[in-house]
Amino acid sequence: MTIKWRDNWDVGAPAIDQDHRKLLSIITEFSAVSAGKEDRLEGILEKLFRYSKEHFAREERIQRNIGMPEHDSHVAMHRNLSLHLTHLFGRLVAEGDPARKRAMVPDIGEFLKDWLVGHVLGADMKMRPYLARSGSRGVGASPNSKSDIPQQPARKRPPSGERPKISEGSSIPDERRQSDDGGSIEVAGDSQKPAPRRDYDLIDPEEKPQKTSRPDRQKMLESVLVEHERWLSSRRAEGKKAILGGLDIVGCVIAGRDLTDADARASDLSDANLDGATMMHADLRLATLSGISAQGCDFSMARMRHANLTLAKMNGAILRGCDLAGANLQRAVFDGADLTGALFLDTDISGADLSKAEGVRADQMARVVGDSETRLPPGLFLPKAES
Ligand SMILES: [Fe+2]
Ligand SMILES: [Fe+2]
Repeated sequence: MTIKWRDNWDVGAPAIDQDHRKLLSIITEFSAVSAGKEDRLEGILEKLFRYSKEHFAREERIQRNIGMPEHDSHVAMHRNLSLHLTHLFGRLVAEGDPARKRAMVPDIGEFLKDWLVGHVLGADMKMRPYLARSGSRGVGASPNSKSDIPQQPARKRPPSGERPKISEGSSIPDERRQSDDGGSIEVAGDSQKPAPRRDYDLIDPEEKPQKTSRPDRQKMLESVLVEHERWLSSRRAEGKKAILGGLDIVGCVIAGRDLTDADARASDLSDANLDGATMMHADLRLATLSGISAQGCDFSMARMRHANLTLAKMNGAILRGCDLAGANLQRAVFDGADLTGALFLDTDISGADLSKAEGVRADQMARVVGDSETRLPPGLFLPKAES
């Protein structure tokens, strides 16, 4: 199914509207990946994650500027959407068989379209009156009159206890399918065809996820760790490389273990204990590492682009040559950590304490985002904010 953007989906701020179009084009690119090109899927999903993160930040800034009262709940929605995306990314990465990976594409593609269009038409559209009213403060608001503002009925939530499956047709409400001229959203193919089976559910933000118990999670992780260590010690002849994305391992203990070269893309290691572990050369892009204790952990040359290290305890950790571009290090502590040659590029160090970190040079701090709470080693300063 191909969805083309319609002008009356614009919220009225050019920056946001361009973002939405761009996001839809990335999603369309994902769905259009042909058989045999499955190796492109992860890169496209990563691009989507990166761009959506930029978009969310831009949109939240504009919402603050125009004084939108639903700002906090909207930020929470963005967080949930990001979590969805990392979850999907993890599932895709964890699937090693190209044919099965390929089979996931229609479902994920459809979900992403619903994800974007549903959020834009349901939640983002609430910005329109505030943008129209904000006038010169309207950050590029279009001169759309209020009559252009579609009256959006609230999306129905299923009764409590019922998971909101998107098993039949698009989750875009029928009224959204109506165009100005009475037509419908452009749908390539027969809309009467039964929708493809979707073997995943939308995550209801109000629903408590079913979690396995911590001992069970730890036991499952243990077998992955043992296989990985066997893989390393046998020079990759036996055992199996650890793929942590998609595993339920929040709060697990990896202290002292060797995860060199592990694939931990989009994994959720929140609150895990990584003290003294080795994660050299590990791929931690898009991973959630908030609240981890990684004291003395060796992350040398690890890839941590767009990883979330909020509140991480990184005392004595080794991050030599680590790629931290786009990562979120808010309120993380780096006492005695070795950051020699680490790449900081649009890295958010708001509230982070790097005052006792080692190997930090001024040029590394040239492209970071910080605030008055950020603490840097003596003689180093945050770049001046762009006016
Ligand atoms: Fe948006
Ligand atoms: Fe939004």
